[in-house]
Amino acid sequence: MQANIFMDKAFWTTVDRYIVAHLLPADSALEQAQAASAKAGLPDIAVSPNHGKLLYLLAKILGAKRILEIGTLGGYSTIWLARALAPGGSLITLEFDPKHADVARANIGQAGLGRVVQVRVGAALEVLPLLEAEGRGPFDVIFIDADKINTVPYFTWAMKLSHPGSLIIVDNVVRDGAVADAASTDASVQGMQRFYEAVKAEPRVDATAIQTVGIKGYDGMAILRVKDGA
Ligand code: SAH
Ligand code: DHB
Ligand code: MG
Repeated sequence: MQANIFMDKAFWTTVDRYIVAHLLPADSALEQAQAASAKAGLPDIAVSPNHGKLLYLLAKILGAKRILEIGTLGGYSTIWLARALAPGGSLITLEFDPKHADVARANIGQAGLGRVVQVRVGAALEVLPLLEAEGRGPFDVIFIDADKINTVPYFTWAMKLSHPGSLIIVDNVVRDGAVADAASTDASVQGMQRFYEAVKAEPRVDATAIQTVGIKGYDGMAILRVKDGA
């Protein structure tokens, strides 16, 4: 197998499997979560195992004690992030679809994380003001991975619920490269283009984005850090 310009998802999947086989030990809680999510008919759009572990590593490196996730699905990324929590830490994850939330609660419980994870059901833009009113912030890590058209409002909330040094991670910021297509008519792509413009205009963060390929195709993640003194 040799790299060439015709590399595609099958090729990237083979390499992802190689990476996972060497670097990610077998993990029955995560495998069960994937299987239960598939069985319940949830879409196959959770982060890949190696990207889930990246989320875990970033939160662990930061020593995160409070984590916020926007977009739970079946709780796959939730489990990765919650496992990184420092002792006494907790994670709140927001999910619009009650069916997804039910599957996630079962998966999170099965992974032994029921006590540290709270799944809140509702439109995130309605739940986020409640979190603020309840004094839930600031969060050390915020993972934005819900409806892409609302990424800018989620980013605005992330800034409100963060502190200097907080890490904000945004999934799906490349979308097969469509994000660089100014003529794109895809509402999700346009949502991400507005997000890049918002970050460009936000002096309080240091940010980058990386393109990724693998079992979930060609996409990317943005990594932002709230600046010291912000
Ligand atoms: N983070 C998950 C994948 C999330 S998929 C993982 O990697 O494992 C996106 C999720 O966002 C879906 O479950 C979808 O129902 C949810 N969602 C969509 N619109 C939303 C909204 N307005 N508020 C909260 N969640 C929303
Ligand atoms: C979709 C959503 C995601 O969060 C993702 O990682 C991949 C795809 C989607 O809505 O198509
Ligand atoms: Mg995603």
